[in-house]
Amino acid sequence: MDDVAKYNQGRWRRLVDANAVYTRLALDLDAESARRRLDPNGRLDPVDGKHVLVLAGGGGQQSVAFALLGARVTVFDLSDAQLARDRDVASHHGVEIRTVEGDMRVLSALDAAAFDVVWQPYSLNFVPDCRAVFCQVARVIRPAGTYYVDVANPYFVGIGERDFDGEGYVVKLPYVQGALVETTDAAWVAGGRSIEPAREYRQTLEAVINGLVENGFRITHLDEGVNTDPDPQARPGSWDHFNAIVPPWLSFWTVRDP
Ligand SMILES: C[S@@+](CC[C@H](N)C(=O)[O-])C[C@H]1O[C@@H](n2cnc3c(N)ncnc32)[C@H](O)[C@@H]1O
Repeated sequence: MDDVAKYNQGRWRRLVDANAVYTRLALDLDAESARRRLDPNGRLDPVDGKHVLVLAGGGGQQSVAFALLGARVTVFDLSDAQLARDRDVASHHGVEIRTVEGDMRVLSALDAAAFDVVWQPYSLNFVPDCRAVFCQVARVIRPAGTYYVDVANPYFVGIGERDFDGEGYVVKLPYVQGALVETTDAAWVAGGRSIEPAREYRQTLEAVINGLVENGFRITHLDEGVNTDPDPQARPGSWDHFNAIVPPWLSFWTVRDP
């Protein structure tokens, strides 16, 4: 395991211990709310009976949502603490979820062409080069399978609501593929507990789009600002205002060429 992975493993253990937002079990889901949560715009074909890989997506949210929709779910994550969350939520709902521990840059523990859907919630920015992940996904996904992946909006990596300077959100870091960007989570993320900063890596638009295309993924749709309901009237410097001005995430929908 390299230093990038070691750092994240330790940090995610502490985030789980603090019951941080991205580690909280989705206990109140049913099939209808699971579908709304995963796919509010109805882009995904039915997943009943399909093999779904939730990639670098432990924590007990997306895996269980797919399981409640009848999918055969594998969740792969670096953090055994996060995967324990998936096992807990599976037992709460009485569904089966397979958990596999590992680094998203090495998917050799998974069979080739095994998955109809690879679903990667926000995690790609925790490794220095997204292309190291795309080529692994290309091996484990079935021809014509769907790969959904979230990524930080490349232009705004490292900027948060705290960066409001009275006029706007200041862009100041160089636009360099793979550049390390450290950010401290807002206090609400881990219930006020102090955790070491996130170490993320900028993935430029060029690296993401060309990386997908070169690995045989056809982009079918792009969503900007995924899980937000932006409010430009919100207080400047608040999360809602920040979201309305600076969409923090992009979500790519792709299909693997047969
Ligand atoms: C923000 S969480 C995403 C999933 C979570 N269910 C959610 O909804 O927010 C990011 C996940 O990426 C995982 N992760 C970070 N680096 C990783 C790596 N190199 N390989 C696999 N997983 C990794 C973390 O352990 C964490 O569970």
